[in-house]
Amino acid sequence: MLKCIFLLLIRIYSTAAVTHSLKYFYTGSSQVKKFPEFVAVGLVDDVQIFHYDNNTLRCEPKQDWIKENTDVQYWESETDILHSYQQIFKANIEIAKSRFTQTGGVHVFQQMYGCEWDDETKEVTGYFQYGYDGEDFLMMDMKENRWITPKQQAEMTKDRWNNNRALLERDKNYFNQRCPEWLKKYVDYGRSSLMRTDLPSVSFLQKSSSSPVSCHATGFYPDKAKMFWRKDGKEIHDGVVKGEILPNNDGTFQMSVDIDLSSVAPEDWNKYECVFQLSGVKEDIVHRLEKTGTRSNESNGNMWIIVVVVAVAVLGVIGVVGFIIYKKKNAKRPPSPVENARPLEETKFLPEA
Ligand SMILES: *[C@@H]1O[C@H](CO)[C@@H](O)[C@H](O)[C@H]1NC(C)=O
Ligand SMILES: *[C@@H]1O[C@H](CO)[C@@H](O)[C@H](O)[C@H]1NC(C)=O
Repeated sequence: MLKCIFLLLIRIYSTAAVTHSLKYFYTGSSQVKKFPEFVAVGLVDDVQIFHYDNNTLRCEPKQDWIKENTDVQYWESETDILHSYQQIFKANIEIAKSRFTQTGGVHVFQQMYGCEWDDETKEVTGYFQYGYDGEDFLMMDMKENRWITPKQQAEMTKDRWNNNRALLERDKNYFNQRCPEWLKKYVDYGRSSLMRTDLPSVSFLQKSSSSPVSCHATGFYPDKAKMFWRKDGKEIHDGVVKGEILPNNDGTFQMSVDIDLSSVAPEDWNKYECVFQLSGVKEDIVHRLEKTGTRSNESNGNMWIIVVVVAVAVLGVIGVVGFIIYKKKNAKRPPSPVENARPLEETKFLPEA
């Protein structure tokens, strides 16, 4: 029995997030009101690990697990690197402006790079690109290991960078070796947090008795989830509007899916179920719609209906036990060595015209 539960737990964890990602976003801007002129963030599996901007002038951890596995030197060295990026971005935005023969106004220069690593196939993919004023400016063709551009204004930079074999080799090495190495390390640091599954609370909401019924799930993690309406065991598509997965400010996510039941007799409402599926969790969370007990502000001034939050006790318990076992296992592992941070590729100036 115990063994069985354990296998089940392993299963839950091993199906969670097989693809890991490390992403960096740097944004330089000019004359954007109330927005710092330089901001840098890094994300592991879409969870933010650090923040730097031209006001704080410090690279600061955003997760306890990254803080606990790094030292002061790590943050100082990251800070230094980002500080030079800040200068380079200031220069680059001016260079880009002159390439487009612009004199002032609002402009944004972005750099985005990172890598993904598939836990199962071991496949690594990298990407590296620059944007200017919301459009692609320069991007690296990873297969050919060379820069490409859709913009005539970036041709000169593209040619210079493509003629620099040493830089191209270093980029290649970064995206094939160092980036996935760091990614694995970070995922290891944050494993118990990144690989956790938080189940949502699910409720039915309705603004008025003639509006669509919304099935709303909030508090789930990770952000890989599906939600749909079902009747007689079949997914319904007609009259259904699926919402996006949105972040809550506590690191969890929410989403909703609406269904128009205006032509369905109230006594048939209970044939409808809202199904929520979370990546890494085998059991679906299913809520059957019940008309009885539903209210709307039309009659009594209360906003929405409700049908309540159903606790998913069994899954919840399995999740908690799994988490504890996982933590215990984890605690036995010796702490990973802290390495000097040098995860960012060589800073790049756009060559002046
Ligand atoms: C950072 O950038 C913003 C926007 O340009 C600017 O208002 C602010 O003064 C800058 N901070 C520092 C410390 O220079
Ligand atoms: C019910 O509440 C919703 C949301 O506040 C509002 O848009 C709608 O007008 C209300 N309906 C009535 C009849 O008061």
